[in-house]
Amino acid sequence: MKLPAAVTIVIFGGSGDLAHRKLLPALYNLHVDHFLPPKLAVVGVGRKEMTDDDYRAFAKDGVTQFSRRPIDDAAWESFARTLCFVNMSLDDERGFATLGARLDSVEHAGGLTGDRIYYLAIPPALFAPTVKQLARSRLVARASQRPEPFARIIVEKPIGRDLESAQTINDALAEVFDEEQIYRIDHYLGKETVQNILVLRFANSIFEPLFNLKFIDHVQISVAEAEGVGTRAGYYEQAGALRDMIQNHLLQLLALIAMEPPHSLRPEVVRDEKLEILQSLRPMDARAVDGCMVRAQYANYVKEPGVDPGSQTETFVALQLFIDNWRWAGVPFFLRTGKKLAKRVSEITIQLRDIPPILFNADPAHRLTPNVLSIRIQPDEGFSIEISSKEPGPQVHVETVKMDFHYNTEFPTSSPEAYERLLLDVMTGDQTLFMRRDAVEAAWRWVMPILERWSEVSQKPLPTYPDGSWGPSEADALIEATGRRWRKL
Ligand code: BG6
Repeated sequence: MKLPAAVTIVIFGGSGDLAHRKLLPALYNLHVDHFLPPKLAVVGVGRKEMTDDDYRAFAKDGVTQFSRRPIDDAAWESFARTLCFVNMSLDDERGFATLGARLDSVEHAGGLTGDRIYYLAIPPALFAPTVKQLARSRLVARASQRPEPFARIIVEKPIGRDLESAQTINDALAEVFDEEQIYRIDHYLGKETVQNILVLRFANSIFEPLFNLKFIDHVQISVAEAEGVGTRAGYYEQAGALRDMIQNHLLQLLALIAMEPPHSLRPEVVRDEKLEILQSLRPMDARAVDGCMVRAQYANYVKEPGVDPGSQTETFVALQLFIDNWRWAGVPFFLRTGKKLAKRVSEITIQLRDIPPILFNADPAHRLTPNVLSIRIQPDEGFSIEISSKEPGPQVHVETVKMDFHYNTEFPTSSPEAYERLLLDVMTGDQTLFMRRDAVEAAWRWVMPILERWSEVSQKPLPTYPDGSWGPSEADALIEATGRRWRKL
């Protein structure tokens, strides 16, 4: 994949939170690393009245607060020159004409080629009208009709709030763009440790032969957040943890852990294999939803600003699922995620089967613990393997020891942020780490019966868990009923 010689990045919602916290700091870091095309223009678009200088100050503030690297004056000056701002309202057709004229003049002045990336950092309800206007104003065209200069579009999750609304958004995008132009972000896929899952599995020979029902007892995927809902109640009240985290981030992690080895690393091949997993998830019927899923709310959620005091929105979900294919038949996968938990930590643990009750494991009073591979997604990035070993001394005492790999000791430079990698991939045209339409819809297809069952049997009130705890006791009961326990995180 090749970086183009020049690119224009247009950020709708350019003066918003995502641009401030993530996108502008990510672009700045790419600039510092010399990863950006030699010619670049970043055009923020928004309703705020801002001059180009105001926008540079806004961007500088974001970089100062949120960049993984401290700001460097010389690097900042050269980056700031690429930034400008266009003030417009998305429902104003004339605004798009103004935007088009500004893009032409910026590109003309900078000798840019007109290759453009449009980032929709705006609410999903505005996706369809915005792409329609882009097409109507002739700012974009299908790649199959006009391959050059390229036009690519980036959309953020949530892609819909159910299957139907996701299809509506995807239809609206498909009316204007070919699928190869559409980059749907799930920022978990941009995390270094998430990309390392495939490397761990397919660049080593010790793990892959074990990744199947013959050797694996079960898998746990936990994404715990210490933060509450913060200022996002308006969105979160309509979403909840199932839509916000499970439908996308956790199912994507699951797909990477469980997928078959792809025959190549080409984006379509990798994405086909991940899709297979989403399509092999055992559908959740009403009994499975009632028996294998727990939803709960942190105790003080209803006191958060903007939250309905009678809210039934879940901030925690734990569940057990199965993948009905030859590799994984009968192996339980336990997923849990929640806000306001004891700490921020995301981890995948793969527990191997019990050791046979013979030799060192013959004493029923002192059973050996099975081997566990833990992949730490964040914040202490790395992985560990737990193995049994003899304690030194005349007697045979077997202890569990840990072989532990930490990114920050092995690779002392800070890992790039997910958005750095993802923005770079859009520039080079690599769709591997982005969600294809069929995968988004397959994930929704699996989630739908859960949403339907939950709306049928409203649990009033929802179980709660103390802020700062590890979730409700029901989640412990869920896994303990199978003779297993959640891993201590
Ligand atoms: C987002 C969710 O997609 O991911 C948020 O909408 C959540 O609710 C966030 O807090 C978690 O991301 P990270 O990278 O901080 O684990």
